[in-house]
Amino acid sequence: MDAISQQPIQVTFDYPVLFTDGLFQPDNPTLRQILVRATDFDGPAQVLFVVDSGVHEAHPSLIAAIEAYAAAHADALHLTGRPAVIIGGEASKKDPAVLHQVHQAIHDARLCRHSYVAAIGGGAVLDVVGYAAATAHRGVRLIRIPTTVLAQDDSAVGVKNGVNAFGKKNYLGTFAPPFAVINDVGFLSTLSERDWRSGIAEAIKVAIVRDPAFFTAIEADAPQLVARDAPAMERLVRRSAALHLAHISSGGDPFELGSSRPLDFGHWAAHKLEQLTDYRLRHGEAVAVGMALDTAYAHVQGFLPERDLRRVVDLLVAVGFELLPPELTRTLSETGSGPSVLDGLEEFREHLGGTLTIMLIRGLGEPFDVHEIDRNAMMRSIEVLTRAQDAARSASAARRAS
Ligand SMILES: NC(=O)c1ccc[n+]([C@@H]2O[C@H](COP(=O)([O-])OP(=O)(O)OC[C@H]3O[C@@H](n4cnc5c(N)ncnc54)[C@H](O)[C@@H]3O)[C@@H](O)[C@H]2O)c1
Ligand SMILES: [Zn+2]
Repeated sequence: MDAISQQPIQVTFDYPVLFTDGLFQPDNPTLRQILVRATDFDGPAQVLFVVDSGVHEAHPSLIAAIEAYAAAHADALHLTGRPAVIIGGEASKKDPAVLHQVHQAIHDARLCRHSYVAAIGGGAVLDVVGYAAATAHRGVRLIRIPTTVLAQDDSAVGVKNGVNAFGKKNYLGTFAPPFAVINDVGFLSTLSERDWRSGIAEAIKVAIVRDPAFFTAIEADAPQLVARDAPAMERLVRRSAALHLAHISSGGDPFELGSSRPLDFGHWAAHKLEQLTDYRLRHGEAVAVGMALDTAYAHVQGFLPERDLRRVVDLLVAVGFELLPPELTRTLSETGSGPSVLDGLEEFREHLGGTLTIMLIRGLGEPFDVHEIDRNAMMRSIEVLTRAQDAARSASAARRAS
């Protein structure tokens, strides 16, 4: 055989994940320092801001603050124009017109590969802007400024972006590390009740998989989290973000070339439920359901003691998640025709490639992979979960009454 020589291609990525408060106060150095410390900095960086409409509505003075910041740091950054506002939430990933809008804005701003797109928003907006930034010129620099709990404690620190297509979640997307991530905890105060809660699911997920002490800490903080205590939320966000980042940087598979995805615990059902509910469920809400289901399954299959199942379900219920949406319970009465949550297994396998790999747990912090799921046992798990949720609700009502 005639072959040209093969050689490894090594590329190193190194991006800061920073925490601050008051990012656009004129004397806050965070953004300025990221730009002027770039190795190729030679005069003001060209920056296009793209803002989530939900953030824009909740923070009406944000755009003026960005413009004032740029004026105060004219030696470090130059706005290519007025910040663009795009629709927030899953609608931004579902509608190809929004992706086009961002590509158009990058084009009109004449950005080059050394210029920056700064995306301010929830996980959905960061995903679509990240995908647009990764594909314009094959990649302009992306600064992520996440504004939801979920985006701060999980999605923004990662290397993925994407949009939905052909009715499938994240069907189009790339692996593209950001240039920097800046978490401003001040954004979280304006979140709706649902979005405040939703991202807690991803923190519970990483705690279940990686850090039982963190799980215990979330159990202890649950009443404060429900009461929207900002310091409790900041603790949760920081530790979850650090665990997610550690997984990406030292987990050995940042671009997910293998089939094992430990931080996608519960996600096969979550992605399918988001689709079956036409995104009525938030990603985090669906993840809470998916984790509860796989935890119940691990118990039904004899891997996980009942007390651990109880702890997981109790915590999810204490934080306020609803674990049995009709799209899940309806699976029990289905006769095999029509879409089912269980179809999510094959779709998950196809998305990851290779053999089906589903992560289960033997205990908190004790994950392991299985390559087959018994559908009948999964059905029984829905029943077990129903009883566990009822028990958790009764216990929490009794606690409140006492
Ligand atoms: N790329 C990844 O690795 C990754 C990981 C996890 C989740 N995700 C994706 O993230 C998305 C979910 O993100 P999300 O949970 O952040 O929800 P979201 O982006 O859908 O935002 C929810 C709502 O909150 C609004 N909003 C955002 N910030 C606000 C603020 N500070 N104040 C008031 N309103 C605000 C938005 O406009 C939207 O209406 C899903 O599409 C999911 O697939 C991606
Ligand atoms: Zn997730």
